[in-house]
Amino acid sequence: MKKRMTPLSLVRMKRKGEKIAMLTAYDFPTAEILDGAGIDAILVGDTLGMVVHGHETTLPVTVEDVIMHASAVVRARPRALVIGDLPFLSYTISVPEAVRNAGRLVKEAGVSAVKLEGGRAMLPVVRALHRASIPVMGHLGLTPQSILRFGGYKVQAKNPRSAERLVEAAKALEGAGCFAIVLEAIPAVVAKEVTEAVTIPTIGIGAGPDCDGQVLVTHDMLGIYDEFTPKFVKVYAKIRDEMDRAFREYVDDVKKGHFPGAEHSYEPDGDR
Ligand code: KIV
Repeated sequence: MKKRMTPLSLVRMKRKGEKIAMLTAYDFPTAEILDGAGIDAILVGDTLGMVVHGHETTLPVTVEDVIMHASAVVRARPRALVIGDLPFLSYTISVPEAVRNAGRLVKEAGVSAVKLEGGRAMLPVVRALHRASIPVMGHLGLTPQSILRFGGYKVQAKNPRSAERLVEAAKALEGAGCFAIVLEAIPAVVAKEVTEAVTIPTIGIGAGPDCDGQVLVTHDMLGIYDEFTPKFVKVYAKIRDEMDRAFREYVDDVKKGHFPGAEHSYEPDGDR
């Protein structure tokens, strides 16, 4: 029986100096493959709105979308910790609504933790989720749900004042009960400072090498989503090119009558 990862497992990994590997997944087969590869945590991120549903931002994503995709991931029964992202406006209108929506991700999808974006303004929500026994991961720096306020996907915490605010926000999130914090698109030195200032793990995306772990959007690192590839993405495979090649070959085979051949056709006494 495989030993399931928990929020506490990630905290212990930081204590032992073991790096945490996290990626996103939105479906059953990807979750199975990630788990087989030894991933520590799977994030069912609201990036699903962009890389799966084709929206320009993550803003249109609903709680129902996350429940549907997270349910498929959970059905893979991964050893990895599965974290469901709370979508835009699902946790900022009121604390009770935040608890209700986070609870739906746990009860209806079966995730073991939730993630939310934001600093000090989110402390009452983090405390309430902690009281409700729902583990919470924070997210600081470039928080894509604030894209309208930021006016674009820009590197954050570039001046000393905003860097200091970010470090203080991270400490406050830890104090309120977060078990980990994603740090997105901030200078590496600031991420290092945050990582040293908190006892919970930091998971970086565009935040340099000194975070306790790293996360990427799977569709970016596989080279599937090519609308925009940020500087911090390392592309590990060219799956889009491979899909394009296979689809073209199939179309060509069908048009020319090369598929199906005898090896893919049944004889009268044939079976499956
Ligand atoms: O939604 C998501 O996939 C994320 C990652 C970019 C960390 O929040």
